[in-house]
Amino acid sequence: MDIKIKIIDREGVLHEIDAPTDMNMNLMEVVRSYELAPEGTIGICGGMAMCASCQCYIESNHELPEKSDDEEAMLAEAFNVEENSRLGCQLHITEDMAGLEVVLAPEES
Ligand code: FES
Repeated sequence: MDIKIKIIDREGVLHEIDAPTDMNMNLMEVVRSYELAPEGTIGICGGMAMCASCQCYIESNHELPEKSDDEEAMLAEAFNVEENSRLGCQLHITEDMAGLEVVLAPEES
């Protein structure tokens, strides 16, 4: 099934999109599939928690899975990190995320 997610892109534009829960996608891949960030500026490491180009801020009060050690380590080195920062590639789309609101973090370079 699809869930609705709100994504604010790096230009501040709000997109309300349908994200599939049954296609084994993560949030970074959803952003890419809707082309909400220019090619080459997100998902650079291919979703390995090694680049932080997929960093986003979680604005809604959803309970999300804990960060893995890899995600923690990458966020510890990334720029513009806030309390609510997550790596989009580490967030698997599930039904629990219906209504999620995220803001894409600025590009690092
Ligand atoms: S795509 Fe590289 S850390 Fe998420």
